[in-house]
Amino acid sequence: MITQAPRGTYDATPNENATFRSDVLHRLEDHFFAVMARYGYGEVRTPMFEHTELFSRTSGDTSEVVNKQMYSFTDKGDRSVTLKPEGTAPAVRAYLDAKLGAQGGVTRLCYQTAIFRYERPQKGRYRQAHQFGLELFGSSQPDADAEIIEATIEFYRAIGLRDTVVLLNCIGRAESRARFREALAAYLAPWLPDQSEEIKMLADRNPLRLFDQKDPKVNEFMAGAPVVTDHLEDASRAHFDTLQALLTEAGVGYELRPEIVRGLDYYTDTVFEVHSTLLGAQGALCGGGRYDNLVKEVGGPATPGVGVGMGVERAYIVLEAQGDLPPMPGLNVFVVAATEDAWPTVRTLCRALRASGLSVQYDVEGKNLKGQMKQADRMRAQWAVILGTDELAAGQATIKNLATGEQRQVPQSEIAATVGA
Ligand code: HAM
Repeated sequence: MITQAPRGTYDATPNENATFRSDVLHRLEDHFFAVMARYGYGEVRTPMFEHTELFSRTSGDTSEVVNKQMYSFTDKGDRSVTLKPEGTAPAVRAYLDAKLGAQGGVTRLCYQTAIFRYERPQKGRYRQAHQFGLELFGSSQPDADAEIIEATIEFYRAIGLRDTVVLLNCIGRAESRARFREALAAYLAPWLPDQSEEIKMLADRNPLRLFDQKDPKVNEFMAGAPVVTDHLEDASRAHFDTLQALLTEAGVGYELRPEIVRGLDYYTDTVFEVHSTLLGAQGALCGGGRYDNLVKEVGGPATPGVGVGMGVERAYIVLEAQGDLPPMPGLNVFVVAATEDAWPTVRTLCRALRASGLSVQYDVEGKNLKGQMKQADRMRAQWAVILGTDELAAGQATIKNLATGEQRQVPQSEIAATVGA
């Protein structure tokens, strides 16, 4: 028997001891879509797999995601397809395919998706992880960047995360990066010959990535390196300054961090992550930024964009570390037959109470009174509604508050109102 989920994946279940409780994940989803509806984001659902080229062309050939982590396979029609490692390129493709930008103006999309990356699994890092995402197409204004960051923080606030910090950077565009590369190359020159082949390759092809390496020695050296924000073009500088002013106006705190450069290559100008100290090594709750060349790269007209991907499991882990997971939800009512003649009325009453919006069960196993009361406890019911020969004759029911043990009789027609529907 194979009962274990594949390495780096998990089952979410309605079980108090589950690593990820499905009821909590559901609540996070509800909060996400409720918050984003207030910002007017419409949901996009894209396929679990895409043509491999969509990711290899957009994530960048020096990104770990493309080089080492994609779940790619050739299907029976001899096409290379890939389980989506991220949500942005598929959202861009769907935006173009559905012609969402045809009327011009700004398009706001949100999504919830599984992502697949062949990573080394550990707490907070999975091979099938899940993201909440936002993508805003059609505006190059810093207001759009600010909205994405503000909505992200609003979501974290709504679910009750504390002590999060926004780490912000601007990585410029082609011209500023060319200038920056020159300055960086001069700094790297005496150091580079002693470094690994991978570091040499990055220095040559994507030197920004040297800022987010895992090796502490590299980090120590890069801490003294010139930073891209000292080489920004005027437009990028102005965009970055305005964004900071907008965040301050919105009451969103941030720290400027040159080491935030992001692992995917499609970003231009703004990049950011939100971190939590409660996440340990996997510190990023989310990451995002601006990608003004991506829509064109995928085959559409030049269209600016900005977005964010938030790790669902990481938000869960922080909530849990705060001690703030909600209690397991229970039933409102468990309807109990105290005598054999009550079963038909038990079933009828269940239907009526459900129709009034309550969550209700009875014991389909037909156990005795003690067995039914035990089941009511197991289901964390708030109330037991007990029907026996006497109650049936009087059109009444005994309702028992299972938390306090208090009980009294009420007319059957008043149960829903009494227990709080
Ligand atoms: P990303 O930084 O690769 O960006 O992922 C965003 C977030 O997803 C991370 O900060 C983390 O919380 C979560 N995440 C990523 N990989 C894993 C994993 N293996 N296990 C658990 N959580 C993970 C993107 O994916 C971009 N598409 C974000 C974006 C949207 N940029 C613009 N729009």
